[in-house]
Formats: sequence, C-alpha cells, structure tokens
Amino acid sequence: MTNRMWGGRFDAAPSELLRALNDSFSFDHELFAHDVEGSMAWAKALHAAGVLTPAETASMTAALSSLTPPSQAELDQHEDVHSFVESKLGERIGALAGKLHTGRSRNDQVATDLRLWLRAAADECAGLLTQLARTLAQLGLDEAGTPMPGYTHSKQAEPVTFGHWCLAYVAMLQRDLSRLLDARARGNECPLGSAALSGTPLPVDRDALAKSLGFDRATASSLDGVGDRDFAAEYLFTVSLLLSHLSRLAEDVIFFSSDEARYVELPDALATGSSRMPQKKNPDVLELVRGHAGRSIGEVTGMLALLKGLPLAYDKDLQLDKEPLFRTRRVVAAMLPALTALMAGLQLNRERMAGAASSDLLLATELADAMAARGVPFRQAHDIVSARIGEALKRGVTLRELGPSESITAADLEALDVRHALSKRAALGGTSPERVREAAQRALAILK
Ligand code: ARG
Repeated sequence: MTNRMWGGRFDAAPSELLRALNDSFSFDHELFAHDVEGSMAWAKALHAAGVLTPAETASMTAALSSLTPPSQAELDQHEDVHSFVESKLGERIGALAGKLHTGRSRNDQVATDLRLWLRAAADECAGLLTQLARTLAQLGLDEAGTPMPGYTHSKQAEPVTFGHWCLAYVAMLQRDLSRLLDARARGNECPLGSAALSGTPLPVDRDALAKSLGFDRATASSLDGVGDRDFAAEYLFTVSLLLSHLSRLAEDVIFFSSDEARYVELPDALATGSSRMPQKKNPDVLELVRGHAGRSIGEVTGMLALLKGLPLAYDKDLQLDKEPLFRTRRVVAAMLPALTALMAGLQLNRERMAGAASSDLLLATELADAMAARGVPFRQAHDIVSARIGEALKRGVTLRELGPSESITAADLEALDVRHALSKRAALGGTSPERVREAAQRALAILK
C-alpha cells in the first residue's frame, strides 16, 4: 500500500485484516473526477488564503488536472480515492503535494465529492426520466382515442383510452422529476471548509469556494456539514418512489402483453426467450423494473438505518453510504433507457383492446347513468341494471340482446356505446379523447 495519510503515531503497518475491511478504494474510485475537481478548488482557496504561492498553485492545479483514473490493478493499492489522488499528485510534484491537505480533512473532502456526485447523478436521472415521460406523453397523444378496458381490483370496470393510461404515468413521472430537482437543490451546498468537524482554521471565503464548484452556497454548520447525508437519503427515496411508479407501469404492461389480454406486443429486441419452451416471449425488462423497485426500497431503508444512530460528526459508518448510491445510479442508467425503448416500440392490438372495452358489462354504469338522466334515482337505476346483468349472465346473452324491459327503454340501451361513454368523460382530468389530447399536449410542452 502506497502513501499512508496517517501512519505517524503507529508502530505497526496496517494489517491486511484491517485493510480488507477498512479500504474503500475498490468502490469510492467512482468519485475520482469529483475528488480532483474539489481538490483544484481547494488549491485555489489555499492560494487566496495565502498558503500557496501563485507558482505553487499553478503547478498543483496543472498536476491535478493531468491525473488519470486508477487502473484496475491500482484499486487494491490505496486506502481510498483521497489517498490515491494525493499519492499520484506526489509522484508529479513531490513534497508540494503535501500542502494540498492544509486546513482540509477527508471528512469535508468526501462529503464534497459525494455532493458533486449527487448533482451529476440527479441530472442524469432527470434527463432519462424526462425522455421516458416524453415518450409516454407522445404515446398518450397518439392513442388519445384508443379505447381499452379500465380496471379496478384487477376487474374490468369502465372504458378508458390507452392514452389516458399513458398520461396517468406521465403525471407520476412529472412529480418524480420535481422531487428529484428539489432533492438536487437541497443537496447543492458545499461542505468544503468544514475540515474534520470544527471548521477550517484558514481564512477561506467558503461561499466563494462553494460558487467555484457550482454549489448554491456553503453548508451552514461544520459539524453538520461533515455528517449530513440527507441528500443521499433523499436521492435514494426519490429514485425508489420513481421505481415504484415504474413497477406499477411494468405490472400493467406485463398483464397487457399476457396471452390472456393480448392488448400489446412487446418489441422483440426488448423481450427474451426461454431456453426450454420454444414458444415463449418473456417480459424480462418489465420484471426487472419490478424487481429493482423492490430492491431500491431496501437501499433507502439501509441508508436510513446507517444514519439514524450516528453521533456527530463524521463516523466511519458513513463510508458505507456510497455503494447504495452507486448501485442505484447504475440501475437507473440501465433501466430507464430500456423501458423508454420498450414503450416506444410497443405494438398495440387496438381492435382487441376496443373489443374488450365495448363489452356490455363495462358499459353497465352508462346504462344506469342514462336512466338517471331521465329522472330515475341513480340508486334505483343501479339496482335495476344490476338485476338485469344477473339475468343476462344467467341466460348467457348481452344486455343489448336481452333488450328493453319495463324499466329500461330502447333509448337507454343506446348508452351501451364505448365511444359515447368515453366522450362523455370530458371534465378536466377525464378520459375523453379531447381531454387526453390536451393533457398530452400540455405535458409535451412542459417536458420539451
Ligand atoms: N473513505 C472515507 C469515506 O468514504 C473517507 C473519509 C475518511 N475519514 C476518516 N476520518 N477516516 O467516508
């Protein structure tokens, strides 16, 4: 192991047993670019504070910007990303490298790195999420008039349009996006200058330092600055709620593509086969969305459990904050584009959907509403239609085939029409093709 940042007061070198548990470079190397970025900003702050001469600052900054990420082989040669950067800097500029850590601690350094990372991860997620939302909004616009059965309790309930189904998920995704941007804004503060816990003793303009790294401001408390991981928990929560929404979408589409429903056909390039059953075409992408949603809930609860008992300020437990974040970002980066492509490539079996949506049973509410419209109290109309349905089911015929009765007129039966039922739902937020088209256009304008 090269460059120990802390060996002085110890008589023995770190045991391999310690290193196996304590070293974090195998995963925190993912912070490399952010560690360099933060270090360059700190070098400038050291210059402003009179610690580094202009020449020293220039050579330190140039050396930092010339560093390259670690090779695979280097990953077990360093304790963490911070000691790696400092040791590489030493190889370039010798003892001058030792001045970089003046007035700084790995505690404020890692907190800064991670907030820089969070910003990038949030931006990446926001971009991918927006693409998915846009795809769904476009699908919503294209299919604003496509009838399909709407379900409650997994039972056919009333007709809706496929576009309306799409737009429901767009609404969820828009909230997810706004939550993500809120979390990003709250996390966009700079802990650098908090040092180990009590604040740097150097005359550093922390707000200027924060701005130089693109943060909105410096964190308010040095004790909190090194120990706060709210931003990590918020990111994980935001993503887990996003994935919960996508899991519901996946669950719906799995059903829509089932052999029983056959409302949609998945694009071949985003479906999988079976090694045993030649006929199979499986919705693995959607199942993995559902699976990852479950695991991401575990990541949030894990993070909260990690944080809940920590004494102020930095504790080594916090080293374990990173892997859940890194895993989550990788999941988002793989899942969202795959799901976007799957939704864009979905083939709709419009006839089958419209056929299912036109069943008398889904339109029973329409019949009761038609009777109510000519003055029959709705409760009574509901009873009459319900009894009529019982009779139709017993005889194995439709309500239309059963025809008018004492209480149900031929004109009432005209209400058993899916297009009519859809167009009547024209109040704001309803499933009428007109409203769905407007909602899709509104969403597309926002998601531009
Ligand atoms: N590898 C550590 C982490 O990820 C860096 C901070 C170490 N600080 C310390 N006082 N040991 O949290």
